[in-house]
Amino acid sequence: MIGLKSTGRQSARLRLDAVNRWRVLGLGGLALFLAGCSLKSGPKNSQNTFRPKGEAAQKIDNLMQPVFWIAIIIATAVLVATVFIAIRFRQRKGSDSRPKQIHGSTPFEISWTILPAVILAVVAIPTVSLIFDLDAKPKDPLNVTVVGKQWWWQFDYPQQAGIDKKIVTANELHIPTGRNVALDLTACDKSLGTVDENAACSVIHSFWVPELSGKRDVVPGHRNTLTLYTDKPGTYLGQCAEYCGLSHANMRFRVIAQSPEDFEAWTANQLDGPAVALSDSGGAENLFVKIYGCTGCHTTADSSLSVYGPNLTHLASRTTFASGSYPLNRANLIDWIYDSPSLVPMESKSCRLPPPATCVGMPSFSKNTPPGMPSMTRAEAAELADYLLQLK
Ligand code: CUA
Repeated sequence: MIGLKSTGRQSARLRLDAVNRWRVLGLGGLALFLAGCSLKSGPKNSQNTFRPKGEAAQKIDNLMQPVFWIAIIIATAVLVATVFIAIRFRQRKGSDSRPKQIHGSTPFEISWTILPAVILAVVAIPTVSLIFDLDAKPKDPLNVTVVGKQWWWQFDYPQQAGIDKKIVTANELHIPTGRNVALDLTACDKSLGTVDENAACSVIHSFWVPELSGKRDVVPGHRNTLTLYTDKPGTYLGQCAEYCGLSHANMRFRVIAQSPEDFEAWTANQLDGPAVALSDSGGAENLFVKIYGCTGCHTTADSSLSVYGPNLTHLASRTTFASGSYPLNRANLIDWIYDSPSLVPMESKSCRLPPPATCVGMPSFSKNTPPGMPSMTRAEAAELADYLLQLK
């Protein structure tokens, strides 16, 4: 008697455990699902493809919305029908009768072949025409070359009418509102003078600013194009959308859309020489050039040069650094110069060794120092940061 009772209690507990497990799974799943629904905008969370702010993104959304709802209607109809049929025609206890078999029914076979074909054809017409539309060469564009590197973005503004000097900047793409911006996307191209055939440029990236446009692959030795157009000034977050190694997830960027006047002012500033010459930087020059060899990868002297690392000639005019991962301020910059791999993972242990050592990313100047090389102090990092922060 007692034995039976406890078995009954055990099985009741087991049933309860199973119910709880499903509840936990259900609630957890719901929480994860709802976490993706935030519609908060602004630079903190504006990688939102459902909030188009650019022409291309709007056109994609206009196509995506009806196709999405058609798909939802069809999926719901199929699911409801499947569940209904499974219940309605289930095998019942004590009954041997089978429902009417319709395998090989000509009317059904024809209708469920033709109907999907018609729906797909209807969806294909606007889809294909939009592909060609988005690929069309824009009129009177501002040209910008985008170079994907491990793990940051370089933006080159080639010669514009009236400007006889190139602008090379990093991670913050300034564009004017109300004008087409024709992007020329590539990764590692010798003709651009963008570095060597080393690991840092031999991978595929993907350029994506969800609020402005669709994705475009960024391929070594190949040119892809993408047009951006927006009439809304603002900061739009972008992200590398193709796995490209250790810090792929940290390969962010910003598109800063400005009124034409503000964009002109930005251009004029970028075309200027550095606000402070390296030779006037006091002790920083020795640290930057001789002791830590920063000039091996960066330049602070000429905003038209493309080198291994980001061009720093106007670093202080940017709002972020490290491919958009950190706000640009003194404390962050000191941490970065001192030991960047602790802020963004990088494969850069051998970076301070001379070639043929290969290098991906920025090395730590305070950890894993190769024998015979100096190790940086925080005071030195601060001196370098103070110099760089003057480069408006
Ligand atoms: Cu670059 Cu992922």
